[in-house]
Amino acid sequence: MSNITHIGIIGAGQMGNGIAHVAAQNGFKVTMVDVKQEALDKALAVIAKNMDRQQSKGMLSDTDRKAAEKRLNTGTRMEDVKACHLVIEAATENEEVKKKIFKELDGIVNKKALFASNTSSISITRLAAVTSRPEKFIGLHFMNPVPMMALVEIIKGLATSEETYERTLEVAHKMGKTVATSEDVPGFIVNRLLLPMLNEAAYALQDGVADVKSLDTAMKLGAGHPMGPLTLADFIGLDTCVAIMRVLHAELGDSKYRPCPLLVKFVDAGWLGKKTGRGFYDYSGTEPKPYK
Ligand code: NAI
Repeated sequence: MSNITHIGIIGAGQMGNGIAHVAAQNGFKVTMVDVKQEALDKALAVIAKNMDRQQSKGMLSDTDRKAAEKRLNTGTRMEDVKACHLVIEAATENEEVKKKIFKELDGIVNKKALFASNTSSISITRLAAVTSRPEKFIGLHFMNPVPMMALVEIIKGLATSEETYERTLEVAHKMGKTVATSEDVPGFIVNRLLLPMLNEAAYALQDGVADVKSLDTAMKLGAGHPMGPLTLADFIGLDTCVAIMRVLHAELGDSKYRPCPLLVKFVDAGWLGKKTGRGFYDYSGTEPKPYK
């Protein structure tokens, strides 16, 4: 059993760049791939900004930063991750997109390598089944923003071997994360509990219970949450929120998981939250401005 020292990451969005940052900082060689060169450029700029912040807080030395940057490479072709020992997929939350990626990776990447998906809600067992190595396939669900959040959920698919689990656990620990292990059920632990709350906040807004700011302030100060639900939804990405609710609704079959029509409307408008500069808040000014 060879050591995992080189990690491939597919998708350089919010999560991909965070995973790449933490992996490189903790000694792994990293190759990050995206279909869009501009996503890779943006990811490297975000990592640089986040490393600046860590340095200004004295959490990262100049030498360690340079070493981490040296370990981090990017590419636009799947072939770029063929020699990796573990490939973590963090592409758009869409089952067909993910299945296509894993089918392609399966034909390219070293047969001994492990595959992990950072999916928020899609069945690990189903994604694993499109590959010829379901025993080497696992869910590795990081939280956003990856450099700051301590938790990683590990999800075993039906076919995931104990060896794959143990090796993945080791990687997560080496990245400095605390692990919660979940069964392969829609939404796993965190999103099964969190997303219905965020969706309910959108319903409360739609029903006129209160305005954006009041809803967020109420949950921050009244429930002790570090950020309000609508701010958090913007932060996660409203498209990702709707995609997760759709999976919970379709797979658990309970109407309580139906995505809020107002949330869907925001996505239809292309107002996806912080990543597009506009969601429940407008982020173009110095202070986020509530939409209502
Ligand atoms: P994002 O929209 O910021 O980034 C997705 C990236 O995937 C984009 O750069 C896109 O160009 C790339 N991509 C799409 N198809 C691709 C392909 N075929 N090959 C390579 N790259 C491709 O999305 P985000 O937020 O980073 O989410 C990624 C995954 O992480 C999703 O599965 C999501 O559910 C999960 N996740 C998201 C969290 C969040 O708070 N946003 C938290 C934990 C997990």
